[in-house]
Amino acid sequence: MRFVMCRNFFLLLVICYSCTSKSKNEVAVKTYTSLSDTVSYTGIQSCRQCHSDKYETYIHTGMGMSFDLALQAKSSARFGSHEIIYDKFKNFFYEPFWQNDSLYIREFRLKGKDTVYTRIEKISYIVGSGQHTNSHMIDMNGYIYQAPATFYTQKQQWDLPPGFEAGYNSRFSRKIGLECMSCHNSFPEIVKGSENKYTAIPSGINCERCHGPGGEHVRSMQAGKTVNTLEQIDYSIVNPGKLSIDLQLDICQRCHIQGNAVLQEGKSFFDYRPGMKLSDVMHIFMPAYSGDEEAHIMASHAERMKMSPCFIESKAITERNRQNGDTLRPYKNAMTCVTCHNPHISVKETATIDFNNRCRSCHRFEGEKTKNLNPLVNTHSCTLPLIERQKVNDNCVQCHMQHSGSIDIPHVSNTDHWIRIPVTSSEKKKISEFIGLVCINDAEGGKAQLGNAWLSYFEKFASSVQYLDSAKKYIPSDTRTDIIKNFHQLVRWAFLKNDFEKVVEIVNAHPAPNDSLQKVSYSNEDAWTAYRIGESFYNYGDVQQAILYFLKAVKLAPYYPDFRYKLASAQQDAGQMEDARQNYKLLLKENPDYTSAWVNYGYLLLSTDHNIAEADRCYDKALSLDPDNIQAMFNKAGTLIYQQKFADAKRMLHELVRLQPENEKAKALLRQLK
Ligand code: HEC
Ligand code: HEC
Ligand code: HEC
Ligand code: HEC
Ligand code: HEC
Ligand code: HEC
Ligand code: HEC
Repeated sequence: MRFVMCRNFFLLLVICYSCTSKSKNEVAVKTYTSLSDTVSYTGIQSCRQCHSDKYETYIHTGMGMSFDLALQAKSSARFGSHEIIYDKFKNFFYEPFWQNDSLYIREFRLKGKDTVYTRIEKISYIVGSGQHTNSHMIDMNGYIYQAPATFYTQKQQWDLPPGFEAGYNSRFSRKIGLECMSCHNSFPEIVKGSENKYTAIPSGINCERCHGPGGEHVRSMQAGKTVNTLEQIDYSIVNPGKLSIDLQLDICQRCHIQGNAVLQEGKSFFDYRPGMKLSDVMHIFMPAYSGDEEAHIMASHAERMKMSPCFIESKAITERNRQNGDTLRPYKNAMTCVTCHNPHISVKETATIDFNNRCRSCHRFEGEKTKNLNPLVNTHSCTLPLIERQKVNDNCVQCHMQHSGSIDIPHVSNTDHWIRIPVTSSEKKKISEFIGLVCINDAEGGKAQLGNAWLSYFEKFASSVQYLDSAKKYIPSDTRTDIIKNFHQLVRWAFLKNDFEKVVEIVNAHPAPNDSLQKVSYSNEDAWTAYRIGESFYNYGDVQQAILYFLKAVKLAPYYPDFRYKLASAQQDAGQMEDARQNYKLLLKENPDYTSAWVNYGYLLLSTDHNIAEADRCYDKALSLDPDNIQAMFNKAGTLIYQQKFADAKRMLHELVRLQPENEKAKALLRQLK
């Protein structure tokens, strides 16, 4: 017996040994203590105590100033009576203005010279350092929404934010969720079971987003347990310069690739930490077009840089020469973001010559002396005659990294990081054929996520049904095991297709659909599935089943006003008036700006309590939030008729029909009034 045990023990050791030696790099990375879940974030002020030099320059960078309270000192915008935005599609004006040190935005509508409607909201946060823009956030009882006003600094001009133009102005209802927040800020505290309700919002991207949580480092340094960082790695904190090219790039790519991000199962936008592989947490997909060279996505610096021969070649050379190189920083000769950028110093404070000297460190002119030559990568330089180059002061960047408009943000231009021989505009190919989705940060591993990628592409970017067909190819539903395994995806797929019958079919094929939805998570995945099932039953005509699933969604995500709204409406429909009443009350206490809840609650007060005065107050409240809310207008016309205010009722109904000419109910009511 004893002997056998020993042998097993020995075998175990051998197996463990061989698995560690196989992935040597990964093991080295794993020893960073900041990767351990137990290490806490300590904040930028703690780093400042010992690294004040880094702090002082960093807080003036775009990242250091990316997010803050809306104070005069933070704003880059111009204010005054002429700084008014007009949305001709929705016929609203927007005027930002200060009162003391608080920023407000006034939404209003004119009829001739008269102001016929006004709504004022306080701006709580400004996002964007102002290098390109300032966008604005409102805080409604902790729920954060984007305001419909952005200042574009390059053009010194106010306008609607990106995505709000051309009839898509969502006014005050665009939620700022974790995805958006975690690229533009340090980690906030979000209320679990919500999408955009926060209890603490920091001011700007801090050191730990690139260096990892510093709890252990601060403790070690305070205890005097330092290492000689010129010769060793301090494993209590990540120095990106000491990571491999890919792991180093992953830090920047976490935020500098803005694409279609698909989280790994069970992961959230909080989970990536410097030193990890980004693909362990998320895969980022981009649409690929044939001849898409000019499709320039705003946050695509990393992706563009990787297309450059400078990157591809220097990486290959460095990898070939790893053995002979520097062991502490084995990849320092390859091109990464840090080759040209010191992330602690803004590009605004980096002289053009500093960038050009980086080019010249690898591209050498015959006989020329440059400081900081790259010892490994040494290649020929510009083939354009000097006389031509001198016309632009031999500024390499100006010709080879051209400034151009980016397709997704208006009024903004940025630097194309695809370094290449200049393309003249006539050579620029138009976006032609859409080929498919490609994973930018892990080509192989991304394949397993293609189903989710297509679903989220359809949902967030382009709703063409063929994308759902593409998704389905990766989401089998042939057997019961498939259905259990792919339950969330299948429900989402059928739901997005508006095929409610199919959703019901999938649910019925699952042995325990309701019980399988138990998880409270940052992504609210189970809550969403429950909601989608509820909505499908509702559309299918089974209100009782719908209520069951809406209850589930609300239980898993109680701070998701949309789910509670659906629940209350279904209860109202089913005649469960007291339950509906409680839910409307809860919802409106939590989120007093929820327009359609005011409308339905008003109707409940009218139909159940016959309380016209209170119902009227609810409709007025709804119309003060949204003068174009069709249901509120219709219901309000009803109470006006009841009060025999026929002229007012007619005016309201005429306005309704102008907004929605096909509204037969309103037209019929108008005919009766004549
Ligand atoms: C009590 C002083 C102290 C505090 C607080 C402190 N550091 Fe350090 N840090 C040091 C010292 C000393 C070194 C160099 C010696 C070492 O790393 O052991 C260092 C080294 C580093 C390195 C380089 C490690 C390497 O391997 O090259 C990084 C990166 C770093 N600190 C970031 C941070 C960040 C981020 C914070 C805040 C979370 C922070 N430090 C807080 C004292 C401090
Ligand atoms: C947490 C997300 C995040 C990470 C991680 C991140 N960035 Fe950024 N970065 C941003 C955002 C957001 C902006 C735009 C900020 C603004 O101007 O409001 C930005 C701006 C910049 C700028 C231009 C602004 C300036 O003042 O210089 C540079 C250069 C930059 N980042 C480089 C890097 C590099 C290099 C890395 C990796 C070492 C990196 N970033 C990692 C989010 C991030
Ligand atoms: C994957 C990360 C990511 C996500 C998600 C993201 N952004 Fe950005 N955004 C960036 C980066 C990086 C930049 C800087 C690009 C540059 O400087 O060229 C940027 C630029 C901006 C700017 C211009 C800042 C300035 O002054 O230069 C604004 C405003 C902005 N984003 C708002 C938003 C909002 C609002 C959302 C969510 C609804 C969002 N972004 C989602 C990464 C992201
Ligand atoms: C956008 C990412 C980013 C942010 C934010 C950032 N750093 Fe760094 N930091 C880096 C990178 C990349 C390196 C490695 C630079 C290199 O190798 O050239 C680095 C290196 C360092 C080092 C190592 C020693 C040195 O002198 O290079 C220290 C210390 C440091 N950072 C402290 C800080 C502190 C303190 C803050 C916050 C005030 C901060 N960093 C914010 C990316 C960042
Ligand atoms: C070969 C040099 C080089 C490399 C490598 C490089 N950049 Fe840049 N970057 C520049 C130059 C030059 C500018 C323009 C500076 C200016 O406007 O003065 C710039 C500007 C930026 C800006 C400001 C916004 C804009 O587009 O003008 C951001 C953000 C940025 N770089 C991020 C990155 C990231 C992230 C990486 C790594 C994926 C990276 N850069 C790699 C040279 C480089
Ligand atoms: C880390 C070293 C390195 C840096 C820094 C670097 N390059 Fe390169 N670059 C290379 C290598 C290697 C090649 C491939 C050369 C070859 O194939 O002979 C290359 C290729 C090029 C090409 C040819 C592109 C093509 O499409 O054929 C141009 C143009 C170029 N670099 C310009 C620049 C400019 C401008 C800068 C500065 C903004 C720069 N490079 C910075 C290493 C570098
Ligand atoms: C006035 C614009 C301009 C400036 C400034 C300029 N280049 Fe060029 N560069 C060009 C053009 C155009 C070509 C292609 C010339 C040709 O067809 O031979 C070129 C070619 C190159 C190539 C060769 C690409 C190949 O075929 O392998 C490299 C490398 C390069 N440039 C690097 C640089 C560097 C480094 C600088 C700064 C010291 C610089 N360039 C400055 C316009 C410019």
